Amino acid sequence: MRIPLVAGNWKMYKTVAEARHLVSEMVPGLQAVKGVEKVLCPPFTDLMAVAALLEGTDIELGAQNMYWESAGAFTGEVSPTMVAELCKYVILGHSERRTYFGESDASVNRKLQAAIAHSLNPIVCVGETLNENEANQTAEVVHRQVRLGLAGTDLSVASAIVIAYEPVWAIGTGKAATAPGANAVVADVIRPALAELFGTAIAQSIRVLYGGSVKVDNAVEFFTQSDIDGALVGGASLKVADFIAIAQAAAK
Ligand code: PGA
Repeated sequence: MRIPLVAGNWKMYKTVAEARHLVSEMVPGLQAVKGVEKVLCPPFTDLMAVAALLEGTDIELGAQNMYWESAGAFTGEVSPTMVAELCKYVILGHSERRTYFGESDASVNRKLQAAIAHSLNPIVCVGETLNENEANQTAEVVHRQVRLGLAGTDLSVASAIVIAYEPVWAIGTGKAATAPGANAVVADVIRPALAELFGTAIAQSIRVLYGGSVKVDNAVEFFTQSDIDGALVGGASLKVADFIAIAQAAAK
């Protein structure tokens, strides 16, 4: 059985003061949601403050990125050792990182291996652009991102990986994929790619989230699909009532 997971990707929003305010308001309602793993992924500068507020709750913390080296002269980077001190999860290969910061399937793979070596649970984002979608390349692109991004992963740790299927054209646009359409990509492309890497049993145990304009109104539709195990939520994760409602929808 795959336990549903709902993660909030705050992106580059919230100062420490704003983060404290948001989390304080969110914790009681979010904690009341049972049977769902709940994860907050604030910017690096907020992690310590949010970690302190989440202590003693069942809400987990995640980072939005990291470098693959454990330490060294890499000005401006944050290491897996540092992330692992505070977080259980780390988002890797988000489309904004691929688009604006030159991340590739190869760099995602190096980060994934480093995350696993530091006992972090990676949330690996995959998804096609609008052009790729319109050129009917979705299956090819997503299959490649899974295969190359997860290559070389030991079978014994593969179940710790979470995949987020995020069609790039659906992120931040208010135009979510249709739930059956997203489910088809997960069932027909992502799980088969996982099965090629790890075998069918492990492929069935790995959680696959949908992301891209998930809102209170459409969350249930996604969560009732056969192969979608939760959501990676951007904009709506910054609204207390909305994020709690989305987590509640995943519990049903
Ligand atoms: P969105 O972002 O929910 O604001 O579309 C999702 C994401 O980027 O993970």
